[in-house]
Amino acid sequence: MSRALIALVVASAVSTSLVERAPAQSPAPAPQVPANLNQLMRGILYPAANVVFAAQDQNPADVPRAKDPNMATDPLTSVFGKWEAVENSALALVESANLLSLPGRKCSNGVDVPVGNADWAKFLQELRDAGMTAYAAAQAKNQEKMLDVAEVMSTACAHCHGRYREKRLADRCK
Ligand code: HEC
Repeated sequence: MSRALIALVVASAVSTSLVERAPAQSPAPAPQVPANLNQLMRGILYPAANVVFAAQDQNPADVPRAKDPNMATDPLTSVFGKWEAVENSALALVESANLLSLPGRKCSNGVDVPVGNADWAKFLQELRDAGMTAYAAAQAKNQEKMLDVAEVMSTACAHCHGRYREKRLADRCK
């Protein structure tokens, strides 16, 4: 075989194997959403918001560690406690907006979570913004700011609740 031909054969072998090794472009699996909206609120948003709200009354830096901080059920007293717990809870709220935007979830009355509605997306952005405000204040360990932060956060929760929750059960999420 001539050198040129060998080079060609090698080159084509390389390029074929590159093609073969390229990751298969299979679609990402559809997210699974076993929690209804109430359960998601109770499991993620409610406990995370309470950690943010608690910083209004007590400086997170002063919260003592639990006896066994590895087993603590209150994030503020855990190994990832004090201001770090406020940071992480604020980020959990920001990230929860992504869970709230997934299609397929039901409200407790069986109605689809209205992820396609423009005002739903607006309320989610308000939640994200409130979470990032809380995150910044927690990073700065600025307890004086936590009063305003709590206000911004509870307003974000209340805006969506006013529109989609505070009505007869059958009319929720419509
Ligand atoms: C984008 C809309 C939206 C946002 C933002 C939102 N919620 Fe909700 N929330 C709802 C709806 C709608 C329900 C009722 C769901 C159902 O019936 O399944 C609900 C239910 C709840 C519940 C359950 C109440 C019960 O009766 O058991 C809690 C707790 C809750 N929300 C807390 C919060 C907190 C805290 C925040 C802010 C950090 C928040 N939510 C932000 C829409 C929202």
